[in-house]
Amino acid sequence: MSPVSLNYGNLLQPRLGSDAAKALDPERLAPGGELDARFQAALERVREGRRSGELGFLDLPDDQRLARQVQEVADSFGQWFHTLVVVGIGGSSLGGRAIAEALLDRHWNEASDEARDHFPRLHFLENADPDSTAALLRQVDLRGALFNVVSKSGGTAETMAQYLIIEDRLREALGDEGVRGHLLFTTDPERGALRRLALEREIPALPVPQNVGGRFSVLSPVGLLPAATTGVDVGELLAGAAEMRARCLRDDLRRNPAGLLSVLLHAADTELDCPVHVFMPYSDRLRALALWFQQLWGESLGKAPTAGPTPLAALGAVDQHSLLQLLMEGPRDKVVIFVRVGRRDEPLELPATHAEHPELAYLGGHTLDELLDTELRATTEALRRRGRPSLTLQVERLDARSLGGLFMLLQVTTVMAGAHYGVDPLNQPGVELGKVLTSGLLGREGVEPPEMAADDEKWTV
Ligand code: PA5
Repeated sequence: MSPVSLNYGNLLQPRLGSDAAKALDPERLAPGGELDARFQAALERVREGRRSGELGFLDLPDDQRLARQVQEVADSFGQWFHTLVVVGIGGSSLGGRAIAEALLDRHWNEASDEARDHFPRLHFLENADPDSTAALLRQVDLRGALFNVVSKSGGTAETMAQYLIIEDRLREALGDEGVRGHLLFTTDPERGALRRLALEREIPALPVPQNVGGRFSVLSPVGLLPAATTGVDVGELLAGAAEMRARCLRDDLRRNPAGLLSVLLHAADTELDCPVHVFMPYSDRLRALALWFQQLWGESLGKAPTAGPTPLAALGAVDQHSLLQLLMEGPRDKVVIFVRVGRRDEPLELPATHAEHPELAYLGGHTLDELLDTELRATTEALRRRGRPSLTLQVERLDARSLGGLFMLLQVTTVMAGAHYGVDPLNQPGVELGKVLTSGLLGREGVEPPEMAADDEKWTV
């Protein structure tokens, strides 16, 4: 069994029903079938992108030099500190968070030094929200803290603003030497303000390869540095990604998980009228992965007013008590991508007490793991019986290898889906206008102060 596999029967006839408007005919996936033809074109697009160097994320698992560089910084510089604070937003934060939540103890920061094996505590400072920034800076002892400022462009307003505050606090508390000794940048190898600052002030800086964009950078120093610094086996993450890449480059659609996932999700949107793609792991440890996927899918594919999916991050079983009613009986515009985790280290047995109360008695003798998994199976079946499509990503065991595989699978799927939708999954032109307006309003040199629609009290209550 592979560390990560895809079960897609619940999107197909006859499992989901025989109505062609609601379920896909599996014959279309066969060699020469229509969905196979779409896949072959997308696969060629991926191969071409790899050959030309445009899809740099595909080669990250082989970049031993970069992985060694990260590990060396993590093992030396990183271990001088008791706290690592990763400062970044979007693709410069979500991948690192997904790794940390999946692989570190859930109470990592509250655990004793011994329980953490003396690896540092880890925080992510993502939003330019004064409440969370002030609270974190109040709590962290600056003398033992390393701030990893992550920005591919080296100029993102939120991250630069956090940096200005942190630099100031460090200088105040520890002087100029303190500033340099407590900062580590992760940024473009040549361009941007962070790179210039690194050179001017001799601040250590790791490179994000130029052909690796923000939301595709989890397996670059962006995600690897916090992982390696907290003791995650980076080699395993990359090995899992390399194994998955080989599977995602197979010619045979029915043996290619990224090919299947991309053609099926695209067809769910364009043929079954299911543009809402709900990513729903049944594991608290994969909640941040769902947020990472939401960004990857939304920012990569949301580029045409009349086409493109809307991702939605959810969590099983919690959202059975929030979203499930909508999934079962609301508009038929959703496909759910479940993530099912196999073997867990501590399944937690449920004591067989309270035989007199049927609501409790039937649970006794099972495990919490079994309950969660049974709920997933039951929800999948309930959706199927209502003719509502779903897919299941099965993770045999949640570890660095399978997580590396999931990252690679979802990134290749996104690039292939870009080909199906006819959009460039690597850019994000739509976010530019908001950035320009913000910098103009804040008085950035060279940017015209924009004219804004007047606030109209008539429309305010
Ligand atoms: O995927 C992307 O490119 C974006 O989400 C970026 O990661 C995000 O805007 C942060 O950019 P940067 O890393 O340049 O600070």
